[in-house]
Amino acid sequence: MVGFLGRFSVAPMLGHTDRHCRYFHRLLSRHALLYTEMVTPEAILQGRGDFLAYSPEEQPLALQLGGSHPDTLAECARQAEQRGYAEVNLNVGCPSSRVQQGRFGACLMADAQQVASCVRAMQSQVRIPITVKTRLGIDQHDSYPFLADFVQTVATDGGCKIFIIHARKAWLAGLSPKENREIPPLDYSRVYQLKRDFPHLKIVINGGVKSVMEIKTHLEQVDGVMMGREAYHNPRLLAQIDQTLFDPSARVLPPEAVVEALYPYIERVLQQESSLHRITRHLLGLFHQLPGARRWRRYLSEHGSASQADLSVVMQALALVSAAR
Ligand SMILES: Cc1cc2nc3c(=O)[nH]c(=O)nc-3n(C[C@H](O)[C@H](O)[C@H](O)COP(=O)(O)O)c2cc1C
Repeated sequence: MVGFLGRFSVAPMLGHTDRHCRYFHRLLSRHALLYTEMVTPEAILQGRGDFLAYSPEEQPLALQLGGSHPDTLAECARQAEQRGYAEVNLNVGCPSSRVQQGRFGACLMADAQQVASCVRAMQSQVRIPITVKTRLGIDQHDSYPFLADFVQTVATDGGCKIFIIHARKAWLAGLSPKENREIPPLDYSRVYQLKRDFPHLKIVINGGVKSVMEIKTHLEQVDGVMMGREAYHNPRLLAQIDQTLFDPSARVLPPEAVVEALYPYIERVLQQESSLHRITRHLLGLFHQLPGARRWRRYLSEHGSASQADLSVVMQALALVSAAR
């Protein structure tokens, strides 16, 4: 296996961790492993547009796939490796009804053998790691032995060596995806137990992590921590994590400098295709809990989505923050 990249990562989040978001996150963190949103093999193999496109600056970058057919998943993994992705991850945690209708995501936890077949097919095509992101369990299948059996099968029959565990179960009926990220209780102890029972596997913990201190505590028990919502809504935390976990001598850029570092990227993207809003929507939390944060958010929200909006909107928003600081 290539060296383990997942000591700290930013979670895959549909509608959030697109390429613009990842480019921005990379300015704050040199070391975090970044994940794409979940993409289906159908989109990659038959969709219009290039669903594997990214900027080289985003590396190290992992592609997350949502699917359950070994052949198409394997072909996508092959293309991903060819395009330079550092890892391919299989989503076995999403409980949405659309995903269940497609027979992938969290419902696959009930069929460990199928997950193992998918991982094996993908791994047979590539040298980069094929990883699995899953939950503690689904519906009534939420005992520790159920989780341990799942991991055992996918590791032994599928050859998977890295598991990311969202430390709560999912209810497949009755809860929305959002509720499924909040209502089932977190149980970190089961993830710690997995690491003790499978010391040869890399175990990454996910769910509800909000601070550098919490990350350090988890890292005493498991190999990696994945952070989702907190990293998105409070992105400056990424720089703090980078410094604490990876590089104590790293200079933490002030948020104003991060915005300025984005200028060339924004200009490039606007020339190519995108609207400003597709970039600025990810920046709203940058001044979280700092003076001027509201002005920043409000100005970008009100002016960033106009069809003619250009870099001057970001410059003006920054000037408003600077005046408040
Ligand atoms: C808006 C949103 C979209 C998400 N999309 C995905 C996804 O595409 N694939 C996935 O595996 N998990 C997805 N998740 C779940 C996160 O990856 C993560 O497991 C979850 O948010 C718990 O981590 P956190 O408490 O640090 O946010 C999503 C979460 C959010 C908030």
